[in-house]
Amino acid sequence: MSLTDSIPNNVDLSQDKKLLRALEHWQPGYLKWWMEMGPDGFQRDDIWLRTAVSVQPDGWAQYDYVKMPDYRWGIFLTPRDKQRTIGFGDVGAQQAWEEVPGELRGLLRRIIVTQADTEPASVEQQRQLGKTAPSLFDLRSLFQVNVEEGRHLWAMVHLLHQYFGRDGREEAEALLERRSGDRDKPRILQTFNVPTDEWLSFYMFTMFTDRDGKYQLAALSESGFDPLARATQFMLTEEAFHLFTGETGVDRVVRRGAELSKKDPNGDARALGGIDLPTVQKWINFWFSSAVELFGGEISSNAADYFAAGLKGRYREQQKYKEHLALGDAYEMDVIESGKLARKSVPLRNAMNEVLRDEYVDDCERAVRKWNRTIEEQGVSYRLRLPSRRFNRSMGMYSQHSFDLEGTPISKEQFEARRHEWLPTDEDRAYVRSLMKPVLEPGKMANWIAPPAKGVHGQPLDFEYVKFNRD
Ligand SMILES: [Fe+2]
Ligand SMILES: [Fe+2]
Repeated sequence: MSLTDSIPNNVDLSQDKKLLRALEHWQPGYLKWWMEMGPDGFQRDDIWLRTAVSVQPDGWAQYDYVKMPDYRWGIFLTPRDKQRTIGFGDVGAQQAWEEVPGELRGLLRRIIVTQADTEPASVEQQRQLGKTAPSLFDLRSLFQVNVEEGRHLWAMVHLLHQYFGRDGREEAEALLERRSGDRDKPRILQTFNVPTDEWLSFYMFTMFTDRDGKYQLAALSESGFDPLARATQFMLTEEAFHLFTGETGVDRVVRRGAELSKKDPNGDARALGGIDLPTVQKWINFWFSSAVELFGGEISSNAADYFAAGLKGRYREQQKYKEHLALGDAYEMDVIESGKLARKSVPLRNAMNEVLRDEYVDDCERAVRKWNRTIEEQGVSYRLRLPSRRFNRSMGMYSQHSFDLEGTPISKEQFEARRHEWLPTDEDRAYVRSLMKPVLEPGKMANWIAPPAKGVHGQPLDFEYVKFNRD
């Protein structure tokens, strides 16, 4: 099979011999990485997966049984609008760039490589999870997320190969060499080096960490560098399913936890083999505080530069804002002054990370309200909540201080004394891990999670989403 056959694309790959050769050279290394670092133990099985085959809104995906190593990782950009102008920053109203402007080469490469690195990292973090899937439905969701993160790596590597010459080729190789959690060659961002070795963490990851990805991709989809804008736009289409998996996954754990707590005479879901709501809360505290780091420093000259240069816009810059210069305006934020919180006015461009983080936090709040409605429906009084964005930070200006869940400054000693109430303890982790036993019969669910509302793409819940080929 020729490379153009094995890579569905809408970038005229068969016409661009140079790019074709570059990708042909990269592909074997990618497949080797997938076999070594992709889902462990399921490479010969038939998974009912969707594959992106075009960018048509009504027919972009095909569903069929596929063995993961045969997945057709494709390259799709949303179609080019030749009239498109840049929508913000000092370069607003200029024609969008088809090539990388020389002076922005380094910045753009860094942005693309940082995004690209998260894609294989998450596959590596999740590679053991298949062995303890709570149902065939969930096993399929995991693999769907994994193959699409693989495709997102392809999307970014295509940009590196096509627009960054030799540097780009070297970066594309390095993306296959770093390993999540590796001491010598870790992935770039810390959150992507944390193992995701049980399913509660998988749902938290796809809820909170992948959701950071949504906002980063949305900011990049405004980019003046048109191929990046078009690549990230299409990635967002697939990303919606990952976020859905996380949000509904947590919801199902919460529903089951509430149900079981009602059945137990002492109201303890753990006594009946479920995940109790206080444990879910600790996982939220941990994963949310780790995901908010990904937006970068609260006051950031980098963020100002990215905006000024037309590289990274605000969330829905075109739809939401009338004024796209963001010069003159200020952003009010809480800073720490002699151990106390104080309101400070920051030039808006320097607060762009915080502006994006606000959108993200609102979206997370919405999901928590939904989970609380589920708990309420069960007649249970416990309520989940998001911690303050200042809680448990290791980067940015809040990392120099300690805060409680409400974001009130406390001493380091006070934080440490209450750490076990707020964040997962070794014992909590051991308990959650002890529940992780595979359930692989069609339609059956592990005891600690409620079934999903419906099956995938019109299929019933007891559909055989994975067919095992074992001897
Ligand atoms: Fe992704
Ligand atoms: Fe994702």
